[in-house]
Amino acid sequence: MLSLEYPLPGERGEDLRALFDVRRSAGSSYDVLHGAIVPLDASGVWRYRELVLPDAKPSDVVTYPEGNTPLLRRAMVSSWCGIDALVMKHEGSNPTGSFKDRGMTVALTQARRVGASAVACASTGNTAASLAAYAAQAGIPALVLVPTGQVSLGKLAQSLAYGARTLLVRGDFDDCMRLARDAAERLGVYLANSINPYRIAGQKTIVLELLQQLGWHAPDWIVLPAGNLGNTAAFGAALHDAIELGLIEKMPRVAAVQASGAAPFAASFRDGFRERHTVSAETVATAIRIGDPASYSRAVQVIRETNGIVLEVPDEAILDAKAVVDASGVGCEPASAASVAGVRELASRGDIRPGDVVAAVLTGHILKDPGILLEYHREMQPAPAHANAPLEIDADLGEVERALEAARRVLTKNLR
Ligand code: F0G
Repeated sequence: MLSLEYPLPGERGEDLRALFDVRRSAGSSYDVLHGAIVPLDASGVWRYRELVLPDAKPSDVVTYPEGNTPLLRRAMVSSWCGIDALVMKHEGSNPTGSFKDRGMTVALTQARRVGASAVACASTGNTAASLAAYAAQAGIPALVLVPTGQVSLGKLAQSLAYGARTLLVRGDFDDCMRLARDAAERLGVYLANSINPYRIAGQKTIVLELLQQLGWHAPDWIVLPAGNLGNTAAFGAALHDAIELGLIEKMPRVAAVQASGAAPFAASFRDGFRERHTVSAETVATAIRIGDPASYSRAVQVIRETNGIVLEVPDEAILDAKAVVDASGVGCEPASAASVAGVRELASRGDIRPGDVVAAVLTGHILKDPGILLEYHREMQPAPAHANAPLEIDADLGEVERALEAARRVLTKNLR
């Protein structure tokens, strides 16, 4: 597997932090009517360009702009996890609603630089949506391969709407991945999966931006959902750079969280990484329904270098975590909630201690998967703890009044 090699910037420590801090303030105001191109500092990816793609010409860069995602702290989520200093980095605030945009801006920039005639990816949905949008912006035809019947509504709708040629493959994600690799090799399309080193380079900026938002104080833990393991690899690369360049002083521990039905990496971790496991994957969190993760080897290295942990959480815990994140007003897609479920599990085991500073990454937007939301709130029997079923009424004020009283009672109970 390839990775990008380029000279690190001359600045170190204080000077480099100052450079990124100045760009962050400068980037927030740009004149879209009069500027010929979006200034690179407006993007939460290109602001860190020395650590992403140092030699990109501004006119080559395909940017929305993306990144600049919020860091949130909600009492409800902290108390559910038992961790006071818990922050959530919400990557669902990216242009297409997931962290994939951070890698895709770099991959499409590179595709444009090499004159690619078409771009392709295999995906559980988010990569496809992001590729479709960035390819549309770059004016390059896009081909996306997704497992038929296993992609959530929001993601499939995005791929179609942004104009990608969408292939519903009879098989699972791992079959799509094999097919995409063959297509890249034999048909000469530019492969924009997370094994593409430009994607990984862009995804490093989730961590860089997080560290900047924390005033360049490293948290004790960074917790993320893990599927194909591209993001785990990217986080390790970012932390490696951040330590080497003196952006931060201590290495956070990385915790990668998988869904129990799709947890080959967790199985390998339990084995001390002696064996590479694969599984036939099944989980409600379709984004991470992956049985043979492509970036396995790099992710192993990251867990080793950061004294990290890999764990699995059952679908019920993922849905409960999601319901808490949603009810706090933040909202995220099911796979994203695996990180919050993971924080709770690690706290209950005593791996994360109550005083630790923990950053959990929410990888995708609440509207990515409306199907599972409606099922959870309207259909599951018995009704889950946080279910909020809609009520059909006649056009009658008395009924509204009764509903209002019931809603007040629920709120008072929750606040107690
Ligand atoms: N969370 C979300 C919302 C995702 O879409 C993905 C991966 C992950 C977490 C896991 O990240 O694969 O780097 O370990 N989605 C890919 C896709 C596979 O095709 O959209 P990972």
